[in-house]
Amino acid sequence: MSEDYVVIEEGRARIKVPNPAKYLRPDNVYEPAWAPVFYNPAQTMNRDVSVLVLTALLNTQNFEKPVRVADPFSGTGVRAVRYAIEVPGVDEVYANDLDPNAFKLIQENVRMNNVQGKVRVFRGDANAILYMLKSLGYTFVFVDIDPYGTPAPYVDAGIWSTRNHGILAATATDTAPLSGSKYLAGSRRYDVKLLPNDVGVEVGLRVLLGFMARRGATRDRVVEPLLSFYSGHYYRVFARVSKGATKASEVLSNQVSYLLICDRCGFRTYTNKVVEGEVCSFCGGPVKLLGPLWRGELVNTSFLKILRDLLSRFSYLQSRDKLAKLLEFLASEETGLPAYNLVTLARFLKTNLPPVKKVLECLRKAGYRASRTHVAPQYIRTDSDLETLLKCVS
Ligand SMILES: C[S@@+](CC[C@H](N)C(=O)[O-])C[C@H]1O[C@@H](n2cnc3c(N)ncnc32)[C@H](O)[C@@H]1O
Repeated sequence: MSEDYVVIEEGRARIKVPNPAKYLRPDNVYEPAWAPVFYNPAQTMNRDVSVLVLTALLNTQNFEKPVRVADPFSGTGVRAVRYAIEVPGVDEVYANDLDPNAFKLIQENVRMNNVQGKVRVFRGDANAILYMLKSLGYTFVFVDIDPYGTPAPYVDAGIWSTRNHGILAATATDTAPLSGSKYLAGSRRYDVKLLPNDVGVEVGLRVLLGFMARRGATRDRVVEPLLSFYSGHYYRVFARVSKGATKASEVLSNQVSYLLICDRCGFRTYTNKVVEGEVCSFCGGPVKLLGPLWRGELVNTSFLKILRDLLSRFSYLQSRDKLAKLLEFLASEETGLPAYNLVTLARFLKTNLPPVKKVLECLRKAGYRASRTHVAPQYIRTDSDLETLLKCVS
């Protein structure tokens, strides 16, 4: 009979987790959602990068003491324990979970790692706990929203309890709604117009960022990504939250807009004009209006550089190599430019899919900026006009 729980090592922490061998699907793959407390080893990079980002934040920004971190969806407590033992400068971590089994396990893991002095454990709804703590004057330099599925219902409380210049981190695993493939759910949850589209993976990340920026603006907060990315089955966003009504309005005007897409020829443009029944200005085909969504950069270049430099001090991280590759990719990506799907363009031209490298070289030769995207191998980003882009694809 195998044990119900096992102790694993992640980062510098030892964590008691449900025995994965007991929760295998018929295809022998571990299903974390079936375990009494949620722990997904596939999310190790998500947690590793969070440790790195929090370290970078505390290295670059001075906060009044005590420096507090909130982990309101703590599961086994793995993040809370890791923030307490791996990030210098963290004074207190507030770990919470609604589930009674999780609550007990967080307490055990806190004791096992000897961080009882630093980690306070709560059991309640994340929104209730964050608003209650905020009402008592407890705010956080880093709030980690890591729920099942959508983070949307928790973004307001997250913004409200993040200190000025702190970071609100959010994970979203509802990629089908966000990308527009399950557009009714996505439109409802994120208060946007969504439809299936040819750059869904990209659209999903921008819908999430746009939602966070718009919710921030309702409370005179500027919410801007320092690092945001897509990885396999989830989106992860680390956004700086700062006070500022005027800047919040500016961000809404300049960085958030609608995206108009023509499915036939691939034409796209950001627009703030919502006109029903519009046709494509390039080919006359039907267009789709998506958004509002984030049109700005997905990363802050100087923060990304700090993360890449810092990573050399984190050789112990299990996902170090994968993380280094992701950060390197993001550094080379023109994340502020719109994404095109080469499959759409090749289909319009009735030609074979060209090598991405060839298209990028052609665009650069014509004087445009162009790059791959980390979200999908068949997407590219460019500031080129569609005519030149189609020439490069043909
Ligand atoms: C995806 S898991 C968290 C995983 C954990 N952060 C990690 O990295 O291993 C989501 C957790 O949120 C808890 N949860 C679900 N709804 C909640 C709510 N409204 N408030 C607080 N916790 C909640 C679940 O019990 C579960 O442990």
